[in-house]
Amino acid sequence: MSTLRTVRGMRDLLGKEAQTFTSVIAKAQATALLFGFQEVFTPHVESLDLLSAKSGDEIRQRMFIFEDLGGRKVALRPEFTASIARLATSALRTEPKPLKLFSAGTVYRYDEPQRGRYREFWQSNFELIGTDKPEADTEILLITNKLMQTINLQGYVFKIGHVGIIKGILSQDGVDEKTQNAILQRMDKKEYDLALKLVESEKCKNTLQRLIDIKGENWRDTIEQVNALVAEYEKAKAAAENLTEILNLVTASTDISLIVEPAFARGLEYYTGVIFEVYIPQLEIALGGGGRYDRLIEAFGGEPTPAVGCAHGIDRIAIALQTQNASDLSDTAKKFVVIPITESVKVDALKLTQSLRNHGYFAEFELMGRKMGKSLEDADKRGLDYAVIVGERELREGNVVIKDLKKREQTTLSISELFEQIKKMACE
Ligand code: HAM
Repeated sequence: MSTLRTVRGMRDLLGKEAQTFTSVIAKAQATALLFGFQEVFTPHVESLDLLSAKSGDEIRQRMFIFEDLGGRKVALRPEFTASIARLATSALRTEPKPLKLFSAGTVYRYDEPQRGRYREFWQSNFELIGTDKPEADTEILLITNKLMQTINLQGYVFKIGHVGIIKGILSQDGVDEKTQNAILQRMDKKEYDLALKLVESEKCKNTLQRLIDIKGENWRDTIEQVNALVAEYEKAKAAAENLTEILNLVTASTDISLIVEPAFARGLEYYTGVIFEVYIPQLEIALGGGGRYDRLIEAFGGEPTPAVGCAHGIDRIAIALQTQNASDLSDTAKKFVVIPITESVKVDALKLTQSLRNHGYFAEFELMGRKMGKSLEDADKRGLDYAVIVGERELREGNVVIKDLKKREQTTLSISELFEQIKKMACE
């Protein structure tokens, strides 16, 4: 492996791409604030036992696992949910419920690298802990909807299901939990034939096949078909009712585009209730996903504590924005460069640069000692908007020259007029 290359599946984020990431994360933080979620920071490295419990084979087999110098078995976090569940059973155990926790950062999975699939990637993550009410599931869907809206993604659609429907059918027909999980793993990959092979009872096989076949644009019709199918399955029926209540709340409170897929499953093993993913039409990969997990915290030795949450893939959101040619999220402020023409005006030019920054403007100073022509060329190439040119003669008269790099026009102004003018330009 070349030492100058990043490790396979890991990336450097540079320039505009880095700016997009920062901007999306800032929007996720702002969304967290709007919904009353508190930001928490947890370690990138956690005990292997914590991370491998209940995440499911999908993730368990793709963790970066190592032994630290003290002989502890540890791993890089493949997601945030286990760390947040750890907090809920330890430091935050006695905090009033619900806990509403937000995190953003990198997570690690040994996935096969391709566009939108990396081994180090960024998530923004929301967990709502301590309530089993459909309002809480609704809130998580609304958060994701709000974030997608704020980022300005077009045409995104939620795919929604409920693990309780499939699990309710399977458990009533006597399928044990381990086999249920194996079936869900295959359904997640849309390997329906392989999933059905794991079911012994013909009746159960038949019900599952019919569930898989249910399709429809209108979620109310879809739910009605599910209700008819599971009429004799108590738990599955209750799950369909829970899903209906959540969808009634979500659709009554916001404009949202969603489809219900009753046979939809997700790779993570801990889900117990509603599950969802969000997509845009141009990409086949999910931009985010989540669901209810009512037994994870208990599995970590805590009190039985219902919880629901979601995570958004920042790397994929950045691809989605690029695919939709979204105008640059981060780059709306006008940018200035200050160029001193001679050594003798350097200090004044630097002071002027500072003054621009103190007024809150993006201002760069010519740092390479280049002649004006070269400096202007460079500023133009890098997409800056205005150059403030400080010359000896102009300065003696209390003036500077301001050049619009896009329109290629320039004006001489007194320094006192400059800020008035800049105020106007910055708003253009
Ligand atoms: P997840 O579906 O495994 O859920 O991941 C959430 C999002 O992370 C995905 O929708 C996708 O956008 C992004 N993602 C996943 N794998 C990769 C990858 N290899 N490269 C780039 N992006 C990726 C979770 O992580 C759960 N912890 C969500 C959750 C929170 N459920 C309840 N609470």
